[in-house]
Amino acid sequence: MINYNGHEELIRKVYDQGQSHVFRYWDMLNEEEKKSLMKQLNSVDFNLMNRLFSEEDRSHITNYTPAPTVRPEKFCPEKIDEAYRTGEEHISSGKMAAFLVAGGQGSRLGYEGPKGIFPIGPVSGKSLFHFHGEKIRAYEIKYGVKIPFLVMTSVANHDETVEFFKKNSFFGLDSELVFIFPQNMIPSLDLNGKLIMESKSSIFMNPDGHGGSLSALKSSGALESLNKLGIETVSYFQVDNPLVKILDPVFTGFHIMESAEISSKAIPKAYAEEKTGVFIKTETGKTGIVEYSDMPDEKLNATDQDGRLLYSAGNTAIHLFNTDFINRITDVGDPGLPYHRAIKKIEACIDAKPQEIEGIKYEKFIFDALPICKKDMIYETVREEEFAPVKNAEGKDSPATAKELISSLCRHWLTRSGVKIPERTEIIEISPLFSVDGKDIKPETVIPDSEKVYLEKNVHI
Ligand code: UD1
Repeated sequence: MINYNGHEELIRKVYDQGQSHVFRYWDMLNEEEKKSLMKQLNSVDFNLMNRLFSEEDRSHITNYTPAPTVRPEKFCPEKIDEAYRTGEEHISSGKMAAFLVAGGQGSRLGYEGPKGIFPIGPVSGKSLFHFHGEKIRAYEIKYGVKIPFLVMTSVANHDETVEFFKKNSFFGLDSELVFIFPQNMIPSLDLNGKLIMESKSSIFMNPDGHGGSLSALKSSGALESLNKLGIETVSYFQVDNPLVKILDPVFTGFHIMESAEISSKAIPKAYAEEKTGVFIKTETGKTGIVEYSDMPDEKLNATDQDGRLLYSAGNTAIHLFNTDFINRITDVGDPGLPYHRAIKKIEACIDAKPQEIEGIKYEKFIFDALPICKKDMIYETVREEEFAPVKNAEGKDSPATAKELISSLCRHWLTRSGVKIPERTEIIEISPLFSVDGKDIKPETVIPDSEKVYLEKNVHI
């Protein structure tokens, strides 16, 4: 057994847990490396890792039926008006915060660095972070209120994200109300349940999934700040969707009127194999989400008598969470969301050399909070108005499709407002600071006679 003053208990634990291979290069390490390995090992919950490796995967839901959704078009205009007013009142009284999860790696996109820095403005070339930050600033102006902005990063992209926000002057937001914090990490295991060496002095760890965001809100102190600010509802969204309506009065209004603890936005799936999760009801009547990859073909393709997909409520990953709910489930320590496991290629340090091996990554998913809330609502929305995910470098859900969707929505806003668009204009982008929801665009707005148009500031002519 190795010796290292003051760390006897930890070293004993590592040996008892059968993980002593992590000390294989101990004699080659300098003092700083020894300290850092000890620090990392100290953060490992060995009992949890043992349990995760030995127990069955609890994360899969097997018996389920399609989940019912709330469709705003089914309601009379008075009900929609009531929801709108309720939501607006909630937003303008300063009870809402925006919560962006941006800890993911962006590897499918083939982009190094935080995905939020990826340029997506079809004309402006603005980044995803820019879109989100300016949108929040635009809501602040529209509703005359400050909106705290929470950004969850991961260890790998935290510093670059903070730098980017600073460089862009926090997109006009009050930097005191922008809380950027990294999520927690969890070790990956090899196929025999052993910790994987990433280098001679470190073990391989991965971010614990967006489901770790609720614990990270608590451990970072951001939740406490929200409580002090009197925030009642947190609007959760993903970094990859430039069209997300971060604050939506009607959605918020229905969330309040339905007394929901979590509300989620769904869109009808475009086709059976579309790579979104779908909302389902479990046999105990709880809401859940099953990923497209976990659905058997007969369910994926099942249709009703009119030929419509039965499991069609696609997950946009836009949710509202009551802070009361987050407080309640994090008060007791870990909220207990299950870990999903995936076999992934991992670059390990084997015999002091880098080598690709297969390993098990464990991640929590945010939507596993749905079955533990007291009441939830699934609200069906219009894809073209708020869903343009940037996932792949090319083809479906790529920067090209997202740019096209942004431009189409901006064109729609202008035509709906009675604005004349020059014939040769092909691509249009409207900054959130010009109009955040397309509702306040004046018919007399003049569009420059150009192929690409960017409406930047709200100066109606
Ligand atoms: C996700 C949903 C899917 C939904 C789709 C909509 C899952 C498992 N599935 O798919 O149901 O239909 O979005 O676009 O989430 N993130 C972190 N930390 C992590 C991992 C991810 O912050 O440890 C963030 C990412 O930065 C990103 C978001 O979570 O903003 C989504 O992650 P991603 O892995 O891209 O989810 P998808 O598989 O695309």
